[in-house]
Amino acid sequence: MKKILLVLSFVLMTMTVRAKTLVVYYSYTNNVHDIVTELTRQIAADVVRIEPAEKGLDYAANNYAIGSAQISAIRNNPNDASSYPAIDPVDVDPADYDCIIIGAPLWWSNMAAPLQTYLFQNGSKMAGKKIGLIVSSASSGISGVENDAKRLIPDGDFLTPSLWIRSSQTSNASSMIESWLELTGYDITTVAPNILDESNNTNQTVFTIDGVVAGNDAYSLETLKRGLYVIGGKKIYVSK
Ligand SMILES: Cc1cc2nc3c(=O)[nH]c(=O)nc-3n(C[C@H](O)[C@H](O)[C@H](O)COP(=O)(O)O)c2cc1C
Repeated sequence: MKKILLVLSFVLMTMTVRAKTLVVYYSYTNNVHDIVTELTRQIAADVVRIEPAEKGLDYAANNYAIGSAQISAIRNNPNDASSYPAIDPVDVDPADYDCIIIGAPLWWSNMAAPLQTYLFQNGSKMAGKKIGLIVSSASSGISGVENDAKRLIPDGDFLTPSLWIRSSQTSNASSMIESWLELTGYDITTVAPNILDESNNTNQTVFTIDGVVAGNDAYSLETLKRGLYVIGGKKIYVSK
């Protein structure tokens, strides 16, 4: 009776970044907005755009004076809530997500002030979560923004590297995001398989992960060595 069926149970799931993702971003001149639009063509995610409470500010006027003043206030007193510009309420709880991708414009080598406000208020709810950082700047390097993210989300599990897209590269965001997702392992489930039954062999193996069928595929046991597989449409890294 026995169908030739080989069941592998992947008991230890060490990482599932595929799960639920929130993208949080701020954008003044819409470069980060365009980047996030492209990102959400490639991944399933809920998206929140941070908005300053004070409307109509011209952050670029007088050599970016307002943005400069906001960044200075934060630099001078980073632990004081009153250093951060007010933002509109956000009704999404980061605690509901496994992965949070932050889309940040760079202002004076730092993360744009309104986004810092959001993370100052919510970063502690992101402890242990996968955190991806995408930064847009005209030309300045992004290490200051990375430091802000780590200060504001001290217990985040950061995907590395961050993705830096210069404003002049915004139209190339699609391929840059695709490579970055691959590089960070965003979409890859890593499993250490516990093989329950290897007495039968077949070209149609049923794979289960945490008791859930991941899919059927044409891998035989012999081929399932350490490495990256696409099983049932999912990228799965087998780490035995
Ligand atoms: C207040 C302010 C300060 C900025 N400071 C810098 C800077 O120091 N270095 C830099 O390369 N770009 C700087 N920029 C440019 C932005 O980082 C860049 O235009 C980015 O693409 C903006 O993203 P957005 O269009 O999503 O707002 C600054 C922009 C603003 C508004």
